[in-house]
Amino acid sequence: MHPSLLLVGAMLAFATSAFAAVAQSFQPPASSPTDPSGNYTGQSNGTISNGPLVSGKAFDRFIQIWIENTDYATAASSPVFQNLSKEGLLLDSFYGVTHPSEPNYIAAVGGDFFGAASDNFFHIPQNISTVVDLLEEKNISWASYQENMPYDGFTGFNYTQKNYLTGNGTYTYYVRKHNGLIIFDSVANVSSRALRTRNFNDFAADFKADAIPQWNFVTPNLVNDGHDTTIDFVGDWLNYWLIPLLGDDKFNNNRTLILLTFDESETYTINNRIYTLVLGGGLPADLKGTTDSTFYTHYTALSTVQANWGLKSLGRGDANATLNNVIDFVAKQTSWTNNGIAGNDSSIPLLNITGTIPGPLNTVLYVPFTAPNTSAVGTGGGGVFVSPLLDKNFTAASAPKPVNLTASGLPNPWSTDPGFNYANGTEVIQAPSATSTKPASGKNAGARAAVGMREGAVVTVLVGFVLGVVMVL
Ligand SMILES: *[C@@H]1O[C@H](CO)[C@@H](O)[C@H](O)[C@H]1NC(C)=O
Ligand SMILES: *[C@@H]1O[C@H](CO)[C@@H](O)[C@H](O)[C@H]1NC(C)=O
Ligand SMILES: *[C@@H]1O[C@H](CO)[C@@H](O)[C@H](O)[C@H]1NC(C)=O
Ligand SMILES: *[C@@H]1O[C@H](CO)[C@@H](O)[C@H](O)[C@H]1NC(C)=O
Ligand SMILES: *[C@@H]1O[C@H](CO)[C@@H](O)[C@H](O)[C@H]1NC(C)=O
Ligand SMILES: *[C@@H]1O[C@H](CO)[C@@H](O)[C@H](O)[C@H]1NC(C)=O
Ligand SMILES: *[C@@H]1O[C@H](CO)[C@@H](O)[C@H](O)[C@H]1NC(C)=O
Ligand SMILES: *[C@@H]1O[C@H](CO)[C@@H](O)[C@H](O)[C@H]1NC(C)=O
Ligand SMILES: *[C@@H]1O[C@H](CO)[C@@H](O)[C@H](O)[C@H]1NC(C)=O
Ligand SMILES: *[C@@H]1O[C@H](CO)[C@@H](O)[C@H](O)[C@H]1NC(C)=O
Ligand SMILES: *[C@@H]1O[C@H](CO)[C@@H](O)[C@H](O)[C@H]1NC(C)=O
Ligand SMILES: *[C@@H]1O[C@H](CO)[C@@H](O)[C@H](O)[C@H]1NC(C)=O
Repeated sequence: MHPSLLLVGAMLAFATSAFAAVAQSFQPPASSPTDPSGNYTGQSNGTISNGPLVSGKAFDRFIQIWIENTDYATAASSPVFQNLSKEGLLLDSFYGVTHPSEPNYIAAVGGDFFGAASDNFFHIPQNISTVVDLLEEKNISWASYQENMPYDGFTGFNYTQKNYLTGNGTYTYYVRKHNGLIIFDSVANVSSRALRTRNFNDFAADFKADAIPQWNFVTPNLVNDGHDTTIDFVGDWLNYWLIPLLGDDKFNNNRTLILLTFDESETYTINNRIYTLVLGGGLPADLKGTTDSTFYTHYTALSTVQANWGLKSLGRGDANATLNNVIDFVAKQTSWTNNGIAGNDSSIPLLNITGTIPGPLNTVLYVPFTAPNTSAVGTGGGGVFVSPLLDKNFTAASAPKPVNLTASGLPNPWSTDPGFNYANGTEVIQAPSATSTKPASGKNAGARAAVGMREGAVVTVLVGFVLGVVMVL
């Protein structure tokens, strides 16, 4: 968040809520990371079901854990991070790809942030693919574990529940903007995929059954990830949650890599460098406690798993030769050659840019969703994944020029909730009404961002508008 916004935000928060006036202190939400808790709200949906293990070249399990909004220097000054760095490999030239949060979460699973410059309610159409398409093509199991998400496949904007820290009042612990995969209709509108976005009660069940999948995305809640708190609060959470799990084979065995990173830096006016550690038994012993200064970005999380399992690429940032360096020791084990950019090399692009990048999620510089570069060369050597729903001929080159929807009084067409709901365990599609933000079930306290127009109508108006612009030109 921009410092001036932060100040305004802090003042507003101070004025409107009791908890903001008192610094929150960490309290464990459960008796241990591997026990269920009523504080997580959602019941466990039983154990996840995975196919046989698919061996990778450098590791067999990848667990990424995302913390929030912290400058590199702030994390580096934390005693808990300093402690952890002795157990891991510090990547000290690792960058977020833009601001604010949500576009970074989208990018890390979809290879692009599609111009997004806000934390608004967005959904991305079904013809746009994610890492899930790449993993499933090779039968590699996966899950997204979202702390305090009320039930599997929850698509709401956020979820408010009892405040377990104070025991008094309510608190919004879960937010959709930190759950990249559910934003993609290619996940949210496919039951078998949506239901692999699970909460921490499921994590406990999956752990106990030794069923933690091979690819994982872990999002702690808004207090434990530092979003509403401080690096010291995060440190307490890491000591409670991650440190004990590092010692357990069901989470971290000798073929596990853990990527502990941040979504973005707190300060927008410096480049987007974030403190990132590689931990886990799969890290070669001689790299423990060392530093790797290769230039990495959130696309590295995609390119590294692609190289490891020989996956296709998405043909987007994950195949961009400037941004897609594979974690060096994995690159060496997979015969991939990185681009040589490292340290504070002047060729490192500015990744703190926001708002001025055109795309389908940028309302003032709107262009439709276009096909990726289907002839790109990714790090897994398998070509580019092409959804059967994709119009391969509709590329960036053939797209219309960006238009300012706001100037035309139009909302972003991708900000209307498509209405996918799994509250009863089966997919139900509810066309959002123009006036109601009423949740689908009593369990769903997270109001949906119902925008006044139906998506079809918006798209029709928009197509007409874009055609009009093209004809005028
Ligand atoms: C919920 O969290 C609070 C604060 O740590 C704790 O006192 C309580 O025991 C927790 N409840 C459960 C069911 O674990
Ligand atoms: C760092 O690790 C040591 C040894 O495990 C431990 O005693 C100490 O409390 C840790 N410090 C912090 C700040 O977590
Ligand atoms: C509990 O919350 C209510 C309403 O938000 C507030 O009036 C009250 O002072 C709080 N009590 C404590 C002990 O914090
Ligand atoms: C990794 O763990 C497995 C299972 O515990 C064991 O059989 C194997 O020898 C270990 N490999 C190394 C290199 O430690
Ligand atoms: C991005 O960071 C650079 C410093 O690396 C700074 O010069 C520039 O002003 C920043 N851009 C924005 C939009 O804040
Ligand atoms: C790759 O990323 C760089 C840095 O953001 C950008 O300048 C370049 O246009 C991208 N290349 C392609 C082919 O998109
Ligand atoms: C993807 O689907 C959306 C929604 O139907 C459509 O607007 C867009 O043109 C499609 N893009 C491609 C490249 O298929
Ligand atoms: C897409 O382009 C190819 C070759 O450029 C052409 O053969 C094909 O007919 C086009 N498909 C559509 C749906 O326009
Ligand atoms: C888009 O239009 C709005 C409203 O007219 C205006 O405030 C804004 O500056 C425009 N943005 C761009 C990038 O043209
Ligand atoms: C869930 O709700 C839908 C629509 O009301 C219904 O068709 C379906 O049978 C329900 N599924 C379960 C498991 O109750
Ligand atoms: C639980 O998951 C199974 C499949 O993994 C699914 O059939 C069922 O509908 C899910 N139920 C809930 C409540 O999420
Ligand atoms: C949660 O969603 C509601 C309804 O869209 C919104 O008013 C509120 O600001 C959101 N809160 C957070 C913390 O995201």
